[in-house]
Amino acid sequence: MESTAGAGRLLAISDLHITYPENRELVGKMRPETDQDWLIVAGDIAETVADIRWTLETLAGRFRKVLWAPGNHDLWTHPKDPVTLRGVARYEHLVELCRELGVVSPEDPYPVWEGPGGPVVVAPLFLLYDYSFLPAGCATKEEGLAYAHGTGVVCNDEYLLHPDPYPTREAWCRARVEATERRLAELPEDLPTVLAGHYPLDRHPTDVLWYPEFAMWCGTTLTADWHRRFRVDTMVYGHLHIPRTTWHEGVRFEEVSVGYPREWRKRSRPPGELRRILPMEVGTGDRGAAPGLGGGRGDAR
Ligand SMILES: [Fe+2]
Ligand SMILES: [Fe+2]
Repeated sequence: MESTAGAGRLLAISDLHITYPENRELVGKMRPETDQDWLIVAGDIAETVADIRWTLETLAGRFRKVLWAPGNHDLWTHPKDPVTLRGVARYEHLVELCRELGVVSPEDPYPVWEGPGGPVVVAPLFLLYDYSFLPAGCATKEEGLAYAHGTGVVCNDEYLLHPDPYPTREAWCRARVEATERRLAELPEDLPTVLAGHYPLDRHPTDVLWYPEFAMWCGTTLTADWHRRFRVDTMVYGHLHIPRTTWHEGVRFEEVSVGYPREWRKRSRPPGELRRILPMEVGTGDRGAAPGLGGGRGDAR
């Protein structure tokens, strides 16, 4: 395991969606606060490899260390991308890109943050989802999908995120969960962790979604006890485009999404602010705080 001494901050952001020129501008302005800062990028950079490369290269040139976890948009085989790789092959292509740029991906040894608030293992995760966050009244994926098609709230992953060579996205998810679980179980038991993926480990953040059926594309119940099992200090995620802090069984969950311009324009905070994960900011420790920040959304499909 790699270890880095020194001061600095562990920062996080996700859902940069730089296909929007306004969001690309935000990335252009992102800077570390100290020369020791690490940055977690928790998925949904863009739909093309070229845009993902530009973003990671830009950020890796500024931060001491950048850690990346894939989002569903990064894994889409989008008609506008000349890179036509699908599923695992596309993911592995992005992992190779990270290696070339010196960015830590979920396939690398998990580094240890030894700055303020550390030592903490920082693990970028790629776990996907398996349709187990079902809408109320639905008992199976089939029922859930039928309901979603009825309401018209269907994630574009159904058309663009291919699981090849796995038969289904949920089979790919199960394989990712098993492999990741093994690695996390091997970590030293005296080290807490920051687990950072595109999806929340626990379902509770999806409770405020405007369209509850969208939760099917937001995670898996297989990780519901990971925040306890793996000594999680903070769970970092994105995808819902509802940036906020919640506390679940004493564990901090941080959604760090930027989201689309039409979403961030409605928020009171300036867009593109990097969220500080460690050391914990004064005020974040209020375990009763779970602001809804205007409720859910349904347009990040
Ligand atoms: Fe997103
Ligand atoms: Fe997403």
